[in-house]
Amino acid sequence: MKSSMGQRNVILLLTLLVFFTTNVKCQLTENFYASTCPNLFGIVRNQVMIAVMNEMRMAASLLRLHFHDCFVNGCDASILLDGSDSEKFALPNRNSVRGFEVVDTIKSAVENSCSGIVSCADIVAIAARDAVVLSGGKSYRVLLGRRDGMVANQTGANSNLPSPFDPLATVIDKFSVHGLNLTDVVALQGAHTIGSARCATFSARLFNFSGTGAPDASMTTSLVNKLQTLCPVNGDGNQTTALDQNSTDLFDNHYFKNLINNRGVLLSDQDLYSSNTANSTTKTIVESYSNDQTLFFNDFINSMIKMGNINPLTGSSGQIRTNCRAINS
Ligand code: HEM
Ligand SMILES: *[C@@H]1O[C@H](CO)[C@@H](O)[C@H](O)[C@H]1NC(C)=O
Ligand SMILES: *[C@@H]1O[C@H](CO)[C@@H](O)[C@H](O)[C@H]1NC(C)=O
Ligand SMILES: *[C@@H]1O[C@H](CO)[C@@H](O)[C@H](O)[C@H]1NC(C)=O
Ligand SMILES: *[C@@H]1O[C@H](CO)[C@@H](O)[C@H](O)[C@H]1NC(C)=O
Ligand SMILES: *[C@@H]1O[C@H](CO)[C@@H](O)[C@H](O)[C@H]1NC(C)=O
Ligand SMILES: *[C@@H]1O[C@H](CO)[C@@H](O)[C@H](O)[C@H]1NC(C)=O
Repeated sequence: MKSSMGQRNVILLLTLLVFFTTNVKCQLTENFYASTCPNLFGIVRNQVMIAVMNEMRMAASLLRLHFHDCFVNGCDASILLDGSDSEKFALPNRNSVRGFEVVDTIKSAVENSCSGIVSCADIVAIAARDAVVLSGGKSYRVLLGRRDGMVANQTGANSNLPSPFDPLATVIDKFSVHGLNLTDVVALQGAHTIGSARCATFSARLFNFSGTGAPDASMTTSLVNKLQTLCPVNGDGNQTTALDQNSTDLFDNHYFKNLINNRGVLLSDQDLYSSNTANSTTKTIVESYSNDQTLFFNDFINSMIKMGNINPLTGSSGQIRTNCRAINS
């Protein structure tokens, strides 16, 4: 009796041990490449600086690339894969997402120093951070150790990425499946303090909003007038305007001040605040960020780190791509 109890305890212990070791998720760490690619941060920063000096908007495009990567199969550089079934041709990305050539350039510079070591997914994560800093935002420690995925998921890109036409409740759902809460929804959408949007993504608000025969009442008249001129009915849907009309290239909290002044460009932006559709929690958070830039910066950083932790491939999963556009042959 006594010996069989002891045996059972040993079995229980072994079972627990197996359970815990197989459930240990490899964590991302800041110093993942400290010994294998010690100059990584400097190499990426230099390349992002060159790209942003060449075109300021590239900061916004690189930041968005990380978001569109992480929301589809996790932060695994799946968005970088080329091909007709790639994520690049999904509705939210087609003729819209940018920066692939810049990622190629960064990757080449990194490969020159440390060949076959650094994943494309980590390069995108570092570039996004550097883009925020170069635009005036606060720096943070990017966690690293992601590996690159083996498949693109066009269907996933179409279904997981939020659309500017999604009702707020749908946006909230699309964030919550990744463990991102209402603070993350509002803080991360504050990325729209930089960058541009095409007429096609907001023109439905300008003339006959939801069949009312009038523009969206939650856009102030002066902005309606300006955007009607830029985006006439049957005009060029690819014309662009600033997402933050006050301080276009500066990473600041003006995006939230704009929402309070009915100056959001996308319906999904304005919906975070506007009374007829708003979730009272998102409205309160918008107000607090519009009054306190430091709070926004700190929350944004925390949310970026949370977003960067979405389903990373670690250990021996995935691979380190040689060319970010294709899996290794
Ligand atoms: C409800 C969530 C979101 C929606 C519906 C949304 C939608 C959009 C749309 C429609 C555009 C313009 C695209 C075009 O003109 O083709 C855009 C641009 C942009 N988005 Fe978002 N977005 C969301 C959240 C985010 C998040 C979480 C980030 C990053 C953390 C982000 C970063 C950006 C940036 C930086 C741009 C400008 C890109 C450029 O100028 O190249 N967005 N977004
Ligand atoms: C694509 O994404 C969808 C939605 O997240 C997921 O259910 C599906 O398993 C993914 N497919 C592949 C091949 O990764
Ligand atoms: C969202 O999660 C963060 C922790 O990641 C927490 O600090 C914050 O209070 C949460 N926000 C809401 C609205 O629950
Ligand atoms: C606005 O759209 C609705 C529904 O699509 C349509 O019935 C109406 O005629 C339009 N009004 C104007 C002024 O174009
Ligand atoms: C935008 O430009 C692309 C490529 O030049 C073109 O295929 C597409 O039809 C244009 N989209 C709109 C909405 O005009
Ligand atoms: C943003 O710019 C517009 C147009 O120049 C101006 O009317 C508005 O007061 C500005 N808002 C803030 C918060 O500075
Ligand atoms: C806001 O969204 C949260 C999370 O989905 C939900 O629990 C809450 O009921 C919503 N509040 C309103 C006023 O819709």
